[in-house]
Amino acid sequence: MDSYIIVKSKGKSLLMCNPFCPLFSEEGRNVVRSKWRQICVLSIFLLLSGSFLALNYISLDFYSFIVKTWTRWFRADGQEWDATPPWRTSPPTTLLSTTQTPWKPLGPFEILYPHSYHFILDEQERCKSQSPFLVLMVPVAPHNWAAREAIRQTWGNETLVPGVTISRFFLLGQVGQTDGLQDELKTESNKHHDLLQANFLDTYLNLTIKTMLMMEWLVSRCPNAIYAAKVDTDMFLNVDFLVNTLLDPHDVEPKQNYITGSVIRKGLVQWQKSSKWYVPKEVYPQATYPDYVSGNTYVFSMDLPAKFLVASQHIRAFHLEDVYLGMCLEHLGLKPTDPPKPNFFYFFKIPYNRCKFADLVSVTGFDSDELDRCWNDFQKPGLRC
Ligand SMILES: *[C@@H]1O[C@H](CO)[C@@H](O)[C@H](O)[C@H]1NC(C)=O
Ligand SMILES: *[C@@H]1O[C@H](CO)[C@@H](O)[C@H](O)[C@H]1NC(C)=O
Repeated sequence: MDSYIIVKSKGKSLLMCNPFCPLFSEEGRNVVRSKWRQICVLSIFLLLSGSFLALNYISLDFYSFIVKTWTRWFRADGQEWDATPPWRTSPPTTLLSTTQTPWKPLGPFEILYPHSYHFILDEQERCKSQSPFLVLMVPVAPHNWAAREAIRQTWGNETLVPGVTISRFFLLGQVGQTDGLQDELKTESNKHHDLLQANFLDTYLNLTIKTMLMMEWLVSRCPNAIYAAKVDTDMFLNVDFLVNTLLDPHDVEPKQNYITGSVIRKGLVQWQKSSKWYVPKEVYPQATYPDYVSGNTYVFSMDLPAKFLVASQHIRAFHLEDVYLGMCLEHLGLKPTDPPKPNFFYFFKIPYNRCKFADLVSVTGFDSDELDRCWNDFQKPGLRC
């Protein structure tokens, strides 16, 4: 620190002292007379302790008021800032998890949820008026038109199970480069009325946003549905078996707090960077996850979506969407239910077999062509075994 600055003014040299020099330098102490030195030290002390006390004692409301006023006057876009005082180191309650370490920013693993997204493509009335027994919700990338078409013609067919109402919807986010894609989606939506697209970036790390928006949508647009299933695009789904064997349309009291599929217990956290399911220790410090249902197919009772939304206010969003639902279940004090027999849900691929596939709900690993071929065989009339 330079204690003195020589300033040339009108031909004269002036010796200026910076404000702290009387405290820190030998010369300063000699230059400034002791009376002034005491006053200087005293006022600095009063100033520092005064601001410290003020910061500690002004109320949160007053601070918010200042921030909001500042926002209104000085921010052109009119958006409000988060009015949490910067000196408070504890996280906002919505980011606290019962199982997690204190809040800190997590880079790309920071999932922007809860957040006020909206639907660009929506079906506001269809599910409400159909009152389906089962809603099939299929997350899909916006450009993956082929998968949507294959699913509509196979297990996504809404009239597959006689006497049982099924509604099918696809869940999409947005892509950066559209190249006319949005117009095509609009046309597809007008034709099939099954696209739900919200304004978040459709990426792998953002799948939890997609899942939670699915829950929000089910709560607001499907109040009369009994069950919902989230099914990935690469699945073979035996809808008839799902509806009539696993669930039961004639059940007078449908299940509650029910979510089933391949239940994963003590799932190991992947710390190797090469893994598709890699999670840095800062993001999730424990070695295992709470019990959850593998994401490729899960079936749940329609009382659960609203409960997941409540839990998501308390559990910090996590990018593995199925694990995140497991964390929410744990918070709610609930557990996933095992299917009545093991091997109803396959989370690894097994080769197609008409007889074997008659006795299960879903198998993973089917691309559109293979799904088409196997489905044609599966739907052929006659006994399957
Ligand atoms: C859906 O299934 C019904 C009954 O099996 C069939 O008549 C109809 O053609 C199917 N629709 C599509 C789009 O495959
Ligand atoms: C997730 O979506 C949000 C909202 O569109 C976006 O700001 C963010 O960059 C996306 N994150 C990733 C990792 O794609």
